Amino acid sequence: MLVSGTEILQKAHKEGYGVGAFNFVNFEMLNAIFQAALQKHSPLIVQASEGAIKYMGIEMAVGLVKTLAQKYPEVPVALHLDHGTSYESCIKAIRAGFTSVMIDASHHHFEENLKETKRVVEVAHACGVGVEAELGRLMGIEDNISVDEKDAALVNPKEAEEFVKETKVDYLAPAIGTSHGAFKFKGEPKLDFERLVQVKKCTNIPLVLHGASAIPDTVRQAFLSSGGDLKGSKGVPFSFLQEAIKGGINKVNTDTDLRIAFIAEVRRIANENNSEFDLRKFFSPASLAMSKVIAQRMEILGSADKY
Ligand code: G3H
Ligand code: 13P
Ligand code: ZN
Repeated sequence: MLVSGTEILQKAHKEGYGVGAFNFVNFEMLNAIFQAALQKHSPLIVQASEGAIKYMGIEMAVGLVKTLAQKYPEVPVALHLDHGTSYESCIKAIRAGFTSVMIDASHHHFEENLKETKRVVEVAHACGVGVEAELGRLMGIEDNISVDEKDAALVNPKEAEEFVKETKVDYLAPAIGTSHGAFKFKGEPKLDFERLVQVKKCTNIPLVLHGASAIPDTVRQAFLSSGGDLKGSKGVPFSFLQEAIKGGINKVNTDTDLRIAFIAEVRRIANENNSEFDLRKFFSPASLAMSKVIAQRMEILGSADKY
């Protein structure tokens, strides 16, 4: 059943677990996500970026989710706009049927971010839609980073408190050292968990971890053995994800792991059957490989058996 992001995340916040927010760009990805949720009895957040919306068309994105939500009414699912870059983009998504939106004005000054977020919250709440905002810059933190540099880039807990109070935003993404994609850390993985705990204390709302892909060993191996190159890649270890959830994270954004798992399988099949051209012979196993990665995540984040 399609529900608001707030409903899913308030429950996770109260009970102290994480819900994967999985990106999709087509039916195969979305179906893989739903199949994992069904298998693990996990609530779901599925999210489309502006790029994904451009690729699918907004009606298709909403239509796919509504169709699967109707087919599997037992799965509580929220449809979220990932990294909405403007008020207009958020309104468009709300009008089209999204039940959760992110207004990402984190690259603006604090006051501008606050103003923009507040505008979106006013409309979204009138429509029963949850809102996410972000504070700080997403970037890997390295051993030799100075305290001042860290303070300049990462979330400030006191600012987070003021931001949440003023905007009434429903969930907040605090920058604590993650980044998007497959190359998250130059040295050893490092996150600012202390800062995270302070933000949770100051805000007491669901928190969001962007750039949370782990690149698990099995996924990396599958990609490499199919002939892919992932030199220098590093994800967020599972143990870090669990510590982040203990520290107050409830929404765990995941895209890269899904992409890598899917493409590894497509390439393996292409390599092994060079006369094959039936799309289904590629996409069914690739979807299944993706689904396994998602199901494993649901166990690790603690959302399995939550519906
Ligand atoms: O935040 C980034 C997500 O992985 C979406 O990426 O903009 O390439 O669709 P995209
Ligand atoms: P990954 O690139 O780590 O999967 O992060 C995705 C994300 O944060 C989407 O908003
Ligand atoms: Zn993100």
